[in-house]
Amino acid sequence: MSATVSLQQLTDQLESLEAEAAAAIAAAEDAAALEDLRVGLLGKKGRLSGVLGAMGRLPGDERPLVGQRANRLKDQVQQLLGARLEAVRSAAMAERLERERIDVTAACSYVPPGHRHPLQSTIEEIVDIFAGLGYRVSEGPEIETDHYNFSALNIPEHHPARDMQDTFYLGGDRLLRTHTSPVQIRHLEANPPPVRVIAPGRVYRRDAVDATHSPVFHQVEVLALDEGLDFSHLRGTVTTFLQQFFGDLPVRFRASYFPFTEPSAEVDVQWRGRWLEVMGCGMVDPAVLEGLGIDPERWSGFAAGLGVERFCMVRHGIDDIRRLFHSDLRFLEQF
Ligand code: DAH
Repeated sequence: MSATVSLQQLTDQLESLEAEAAAAIAAAEDAAALEDLRVGLLGKKGRLSGVLGAMGRLPGDERPLVGQRANRLKDQVQQLLGARLEAVRSAAMAERLERERIDVTAACSYVPPGHRHPLQSTIEEIVDIFAGLGYRVSEGPEIETDHYNFSALNIPEHHPARDMQDTFYLGGDRLLRTHTSPVQIRHLEANPPPVRVIAPGRVYRRDAVDATHSPVFHQVEVLALDEGLDFSHLRGTVTTFLQQFFGDLPVRFRASYFPFTEPSAEVDVQWRGRWLEVMGCGMVDPAVLEGLGIDPERWSGFAAGLGVERFCMVRHGIDDIRRLFHSDLRFLEQF
């Protein structure tokens, strides 16, 4: 026996269900609570289903009235749920953004990144210029033998050139190289001509320290060996290099002497009105090539050597070579 039900009762129920649902949805705090409400209101066993179930007990012509009212209620509840869900989500996001806020203006502990030492950047600049002229970098050891440092470069024992390059002898015939010129020999032993190389590196001499001398310093060696190279190639290459490094300054070659070049020259640039000696150079002496088993009738070339500290000091107006080795940050941070 089923209790009778009137149209009025069902409409009242829908009416109060609507008011209740609106209040509950507005009060829901999060997505889970809204989902519970959705199931409780619109789900299979929910409140709306209950009302619709009772609809079957109405006279046939009244049912559509309740049905339409129920459909409107359903739409409205769905809309309220959707809007409220949107609202709680954005409130949750706002709360999270606030909680996880990062103050990008807060003071931090700054670790300066550091930078290249001026000697290193001078070497890199020199290497870059020669790379542009087609040269490759070659390197040799700082501990050399008497053979590579002197004899193979046409500096036999008791030659006066050895007095100018006193070094640190390590026992046996080992010594700390006094210049980068031995890399010429090592490179040619391992690489048949044609060659175009530069060899940057550290060198050593038994010199007392003063404003312009350091027992440890750096050189860059240049070597080109090919068919048909003559003094004009040497002159053009060295002048081009110097003018790229120092700017478009006058360059002058003065006759000089080195045991491993013939003829030899020293090169000056006119810097702030004064002639400054910056390089030694010359045509590779045929005796050096013969020592390597290279035919001097076929191959000729030129070599040059420069001191990196000098280039660095002139370029940056540094008054004392010792500043380059003392690691005083007040000095180094200027570069
Ligand atoms: N090795 C020489 C020195 O340390 C510099 C030098 C001069 C190198 C003339 C060369 C050169 O290659 O041709 O004093």
